[in-house]
Amino acid sequence: MPITRIESLTFGVADMAAGARFFEDLGLEKRDADGAGARFRTPTNQTITLRPIDDPSLPASPETGPTLREVTWGVDSAASLDAIAAELAKDRAVRKTPDGALHARDETGFAIAFAVSNPTPATPARPRVNNHDVSARLNQRVAPPTRLTPTRIGHVVYRVLPEQREKASAFYLERLGFKLTDRSLMVGDFMRLSGISDHHQLLFMTIGSKEARFDHAALELPGFDDVLWSGGHMKARGWNGTWGPGRQPLGNHIFWHFANPCGGEIEVFTDMDRFDDSWQPVVWEKNGPPPVWMLGEGIPAELREAIAAANKKPPEEH
Ligand SMILES: [Fe+2]
Repeated sequence: MPITRIESLTFGVADMAAGARFFEDLGLEKRDADGAGARFRTPTNQTITLRPIDDPSLPASPETGPTLREVTWGVDSAASLDAIAAELAKDRAVRKTPDGALHARDETGFAIAFAVSNPTPATPARPRVNNHDVSARLNQRVAPPTRLTPTRIGHVVYRVLPEQREKASAFYLERLGFKLTDRSLMVGDFMRLSGISDHHQLLFMTIGSKEARFDHAALELPGFDDVLWSGGHMKARGWNGTWGPGRQPLGNHIFWHFANPCGGEIEVFTDMDRFDDSWQPVVWEKNGPPPVWMLGEGIPAELREAIAAANKKPPEEH
């Protein structure tokens, strides 16, 4: 049942105007308004939909307030969609909407959907870097962009309680064909899709988690300059940077996080590690390697406290 990517994200939003302004400032294309909602599209034809928080068509969430209300995973064919429907119907309610999408809930209660993927090809401007014997940018200056558009939605991250992690991840690994890339007994489970894949499309994060909730979704930009430019642009537009810029320890992507008025955070990132099905998962007793580099706001205080507390405890048995 090949799941190929995140197809769409749907948020329940308290301040629709702020939510729309946030995603426009991130450079996404506003496609259409659906009733009281707003829809944004990546160049690869993934969508981010904002709906008023009290919209009765929104699936319920384990958390209150503005947040991610549903992730739709794209699959490669109608046959794969049927296979997922049959698998999930073994132990949970599966609903099919007139658009053909399947809707269900995962083991933690987060709403999930599945639809046949409809990607469009994208050709982001590749970074051109001069170095020693490489003149990739000859007779050209570096010009700042006037607008940057994230190419795609890369991953989604939920927080779960440590005791919820095993069941939460097993559902995706054993029932939906996800692959485990890294398991940090302190940070959480990093899972990817089958085939050549980013380090993670899905992370269940346990470090510092006090409840099950949406943490963040990530938008990919072409290169290092673009992440830095986008972060600077977001700050200039008044949005609150919460973490970064830096290069993550697991995934190794260059990143910058911003508080999302629609709930949780949105990350812009580039240059994440990639793996294929030959990769054997690694279990890290604690948090894994340190970040390659970290600037700006550094590690958030909440995470710093959780790391300090975890490091004082004896290692968990597993
Ligand atoms: Fe992330």
